[in-house]
Amino acid sequence: MDTATFDLSRWSRHHLQQVEVALSRWIPLSAPAGLADSMRYAVLDGGKRLRPLLVMGAREAVAALPDSPSARPDAEVLDEAALRAACAVELIHAYSLVHDDMPCMDNDVLRRGKPTVHVQFGEAQALLAGDTLQALAFEILTPLAEAPDALKVPPLALQARLCQLLARASGHAGMAGGQAIDLASVGKPLSETELRHMHRLKTGALLQASVRMGAACGAASPTALAALDRYGEAIGLAFQVVDDVLDVTADSATLGKTAGKDAADDKPTYVSLMGLDRSRELASSLLDQALSALDDSGLTQTQPLRALAHMVVDRSH
Ligand code: IPE
Ligand code: IPE
Ligand code: MG
Ligand code: MG
Ligand code: MG
Repeated sequence: MDTATFDLSRWSRHHLQQVEVALSRWIPLSAPAGLADSMRYAVLDGGKRLRPLLVMGAREAVAALPDSPSARPDAEVLDEAALRAACAVELIHAYSLVHDDMPCMDNDVLRRGKPTVHVQFGEAQALLAGDTLQALAFEILTPLAEAPDALKVPPLALQARLCQLLARASGHAGMAGGQAIDLASVGKPLSETELRHMHRLKTGALLQASVRMGAACGAASPTALAALDRYGEAIGLAFQVVDDVLDVTADSATLGKTAGKDAADDKPTYVSLMGLDRSRELASSLLDQALSALDDSGLTQTQPLRALAHMVVDRSH
């Protein structure tokens, strides 16, 4: 099947069905002092779920290798590991959005078409919802062997690898580090190098980690892994460039979050640095880079990753 005939929405629906069921099962229904309500509110019923889809797309790309463990009986275990990785990265992402929207950060009132978590539940609950979602992500990656579905428990080395990839991309060298640069850069014109660094950390790292986590749930040659890394890096940056563009060009109803916020807050963005046209050109050249990385990968089942790359750049919200 070539890219032209690949049906991304059908493929996404299939995978997201599993992801939504798993998220709803793994996020607790009750927790002290109403915390489960804010956790569920932050994660369920909303979002494009791009990061879980990247995990699934990368898993599919490496599952197709002839010498892949997918051909052996433990494919189910690896599928389960990928599902856990997909949910874990979405939990980290949701936590990052909850904190990003808080008054001490971007002070936003609208997210995924609903009032932000701190508006709905108060600041302390929002802070704690973020904390608990982060912890839950790592709990999901490390299921106990005595769990009822113990047959599908991923090997410990894979569990450790997934935790390491996610922790690295979330912390000081990834999302949180990038957010620190973002807040420290309000009102400051950044150079292109500085802006790229900020975007790679605050947004790109988690997207690239999604691809790496999916790729860890299979077997791939060093060449393929390096190519997938280049793909993840290119779409990771493209994603935030497009986010900067949409902040200027889309309306709040379409975005489900407040449009025009970056300029209002004097944030350095690709649009403020190079204008709309050059930002769009950059996004499109990053798309080309992502696609040619896949061409070089030697992998055959890359249609989902290709279509997701197009979606990152061509999206309306
Ligand atoms: C928004 O991410 C925050 C950024 C990293 C730019 P998404 O645009 O993926 O948000 P959801 O998950 O679809 O709500
Ligand atoms: C946030 O970037 C990236 C995160 C790590 C959450 P933005 O602040 O631009 O994200 P939005 O536009 O509020 O979704
Ligand atoms: Mg922000
Ligand atoms: Mg924000
Ligand atoms: Mg933004």
